[in-house]
Formats: sequence, C-alpha cells, structure tokens
Amino acid sequence: MENPPIAIRFSSAEIATRIEDLARDIRDAMPDDTLMVPILTGSFVFAADLVRALARAGADWPLDFMTLSSYGAGTRSSGQIDIVRDLRESVAGRSVLVIDDILDTGRTLLFARDLLRNRGARDVRICALLDKPARRSVDLQADFVGFAVTDEFLVGYGLDKAGRYRGLPYIGAIEG
Ligand code: HPA
Ligand code: MG
Repeated sequence: MENPPIAIRFSSAEIATRIEDLARDIRDAMPDDTLMVPILTGSFVFAADLVRALARAGADWPLDFMTLSSYGAGTRSSGQIDIVRDLRESVAGRSVLVIDDILDTGRTLLFARDLLRNRGARDVRICALLDKPARRSVDLQADFVGFAVTDEFLVGYGLDKAGRYRGLPYIGAIEG
C-alpha cells in the first residue's frame, strides 16, 4: 500500500509537554472523586498518556470507557450516535471528565455530555486533545483543550483515517 507523506503538526515531544500542563490544570479544577471517561476509539492513546500525567500530578482517579459511534462521521453525518459499549460505572452524583481525541462537529461529545447529565452526573467536563472550531455544528466547548487546530484532516496519536495511522507517535496532516 502506498504511504503518502505526512506533515507533522505536533511532535511527540510537543504533545507530551502539553499533556503535563493539561494534567495539572485538570487536577486543580476537578474534585478527588472524579470519574474519567475516555470515548473510544480515538481517545485511547491520549487517554493512556493523560491518565499517567494525572497520576504524576497526584490525581489517581478511576476510569471507565464508553464507545460511541457516529454514522457518517468524517464526511456527512446523519446525526445518529450509537452507544456501542456502555459504562459499567454509575455516574449518578459524580463528577465526570470526558476525554476525547478531537472536538470536531461536537455532536458526539454533546451526546455524551447530555447522556451523562441525564444519568445524574453532578458535573460533566470535557477534555479534548484537539479542538477544531471551524467544524463545529452544535453549541459546545471543551473545558480543557490540548491544541486548537485548523480545518485539515489529521492522523496519528489515536486519530485514524479509515482505521489507519492510529499508532503514529505524532499528529500530522496527510499531504496530497
Ligand atoms: N482526523 C481524524 N478523525 C477525525 C478528524 C480528523 O481530523 N476530525 C474528526 N474526526
Ligand atoms: Mg475516526
């Protein structure tokens, strides 16, 4: 398979430095009974590093995963979002930190926030490694953002194109 060149936008060192700062901000802003909820699949690399940065910063919080799928994500979105894998933890009365790789249209994260609020979460905050405001189609902002990005398609560090590139240690744009 041909591998097109990828222009690096954020190196692994830049990502690592930013995540240390993000972890300290999150630790300072959120209570000790926070439940972390990474949204799979895209967030798994970021979440693994963020969880360890939080532990270094003194925040040793429980974690549970949720897998959401949004049909037609990427090109045209039907707006339909499915819970593919649900939480095992109850969020009632808890403070929740939702973790995702990218805040794009905002549909998936708005769905997640509303769902968790409807289940009685006391507070729901959103942490996105990347924020692409040019693509937003709903009224939603992240509470914690790693990097703001322009409207170009990015891969690596968990972000995929048709299932590929998730294992790249950096974030880049496919050229050509
Ligand atoms: N890359 C990968 N997945 C995405 C992107 C992107 O830029 N935006 C929304 N999902
Ligand atoms: Mg994807």
